[in-house]
Amino acid sequence: MRDKQGRNINYLRVSVTDRCNLRCIYCMPEDGIESLEHDDILRFEDILKIVKSAASLGINKVRYTGGEPLVMKDIDKLIYETSRLPGIDDIAITTNGILLSDMAEDLKKAGLKRVNISLDTLNEDKFRSITRIGNLDKVLESIDKCLTLGLKPVKINTVLMRGVNDTEIIDFLNLTKEMPVEIRFIELMPIGESIKLYEESKVDFSEILKQYPELIQIETEKNSTAQLYKLQGAKGKIGFISPISCKFCPDCNKIRLTSIGKIKPCLHSSEEIDLREYLNNEELLTMKLKSAIFNKPLEHHLQEENASRSGKMMYQIGG
Ligand code: 5AD
Ligand code: SF4
Repeated sequence: MRDKQGRNINYLRVSVTDRCNLRCIYCMPEDGIESLEHDDILRFEDILKIVKSAASLGINKVRYTGGEPLVMKDIDKLIYETSRLPGIDDIAITTNGILLSDMAEDLKKAGLKRVNISLDTLNEDKFRSITRIGNLDKVLESIDKCLTLGLKPVKINTVLMRGVNDTEIIDFLNLTKEMPVEIRFIELMPIGESIKLYEESKVDFSEILKQYPELIQIETEKNSTAQLYKLQGAKGKIGFISPISCKFCPDCNKIRLTSIGKIKPCLHSSEEIDLREYLNNEELLTMKLKSAIFNKPLEHHLQEENASRSGKMMYQIGG
């Protein structure tokens, strides 16, 4: 359905858990987070009810995120049941890739179409310092596995940070020569843990583009948040996602659901609509969702305010 600005909203991102098996510096505090009580988190059946209602309003694309979605028990069943809902024709996940290589085959069988894997560095030590826990080999193994299984396109999310991984841009570009993946450089957003890192770490994407004239601009799919490029003869692509310097609010097609049952019509707005109390009344649930979509805020104010108005952390919303 269309919102009041006339944007066609067809994409729902669902954070299935706020838990994560990593502690990335720009997302989580070092000591981790106080996990939500089990009862506060939507059950698998509740998520399905909301996705079903959303599908009746024209949502056809669902992405499961976290925290880390693969730490959710029964994520494969959730994907399977989602794939059976009328109207849903695209199911994706955004994952840190640590658990993916062992699960990818089952997830594909369950109906998963595509994956986005977060990977901010190709250097083992740096990987550990950014994620504080992770093992780079597991992520690389997952990328290979997804390519072998044909879970395409495999997109890799790389949040660029000055002085942390901006020296590795060339390594990521070179990776696309042989690997049919889409590397997506993402501008760090000042939300949650990142607010304190933002000033010292932000990277100017227009500067990067000037530094790599070998990047050839290619056509972008509709509603894509990335500006796409390619190296001559490369198997993969390079995307630049610039929510701040190149705002894509006028083309935004998504709404978000948090793991505690709140719709966030905009990632960077404090507005939230609690759906929990309507879970047993399909008609009311759909009405609430419809009004949440219709009233989706016009735009974010990151550039003017240097901070998100979200009031939530990324692991609570799912990026
Ligand atoms: N700015 C930009 N991207 C972020 N992510 C998490 N926090 C931020 C932030 N502050 C990314 C992760 C992951 C995706 C879910 O969101 O790297 O790829
Ligand atoms: Fe986990 Fe993703 Fe946050 Fe890293 S960015 S701590 S992988 S939720």
